[in-house]
Amino acid sequence: MRIVLLGAPGAGKGTQCKRIVAKYGLLHLSSGDILRQERVAGTELGKKAQSYMDSGALVPDEVIVGMMAGAINKASEAGFVLDGFPRTVHQAAELDRLLKASDEKKIDVVLNLQIDEQMVAQRMTGRRSCPQCGAVYHIENLKPKVEGICDNDGTELIQRPDDSIEVVMNRLKTYRRQTEPVVDYYKNKNGSTVYDIDANKDADEVSALVFEKLDALWL
Ligand code: AP5
Repeated sequence: MRIVLLGAPGAGKGTQCKRIVAKYGLLHLSSGDILRQERVAGTELGKKAQSYMDSGALVPDEVIVGMMAGAINKASEAGFVLDGFPRTVHQAAELDRLLKASDEKKIDVVLNLQIDEQMVAQRMTGRRSCPQCGAVYHIENLKPKVEGICDNDGTELIQRPDDSIEVVMNRLKTYRRQTEPVVDYYKNKNGSTVYDIDANKDADEVSALVFEKLDALWL
């Protein structure tokens, strides 16, 4: 099964992807996480991406497509969930080309997490992440057992540098201009199954909606 999760910053893509992979045994491929790992490792790719990420702009397509093609090609036959990719219509078309070239594969389902914009700032500024295992928390909505500490490995939680209110507002503008058209790309494409999911609900309720759709496809 090959799944794409779409949605504005803070819609809960990362949160839901982790739950999907835990339930269905798929691989989680997050372009944002891969870019952050490249930055920590100090690679050329990470250095190239830095200024775009810090301002809330998209990293250029030519950098992202090659990076994600490498990750997708390494994924097993069991499938994957894409989180944060594709984020432009060009990236979506390149993804189709890549999958088609590999035994006529395709994206089986697109989950479009819909969130009201006034929810975004609260979710983003309250997010805390584990730099060690990538677990994501929220200071009000999804608290760790001990404040500021990861439940999984005891690491001190951090706030992402691009979660300041100014950068979040830019990321939202970027989403509206460059990523929203990707939803229509999939809706207008023959053979694509796109589900709109109400992502304003609490995380467990959103997971229940997602699992209902995926369970029906799995049977
Ligand atoms: P990326 O890391 O992909 O950021 P994003 O898309 O802006 O998404 P987020 O990770 O911020 O949000 P999310 O939807 O995953 O929400 P989460 O589950 O964490 O990209 C970062 C940057 O990298 C981009 O700006 C760009 O520069 C670059 N980049 C990445 N991919 C690219 C690409 N393909 N092309 C070009 N550039 C690219 O949840 C957020 C918070 O809310 C958490 O605290 C969580 O606990 C909480 N929460 C989640 N769900 C709920 C809920 N239902 N109710 C209450 N709280 C919730």
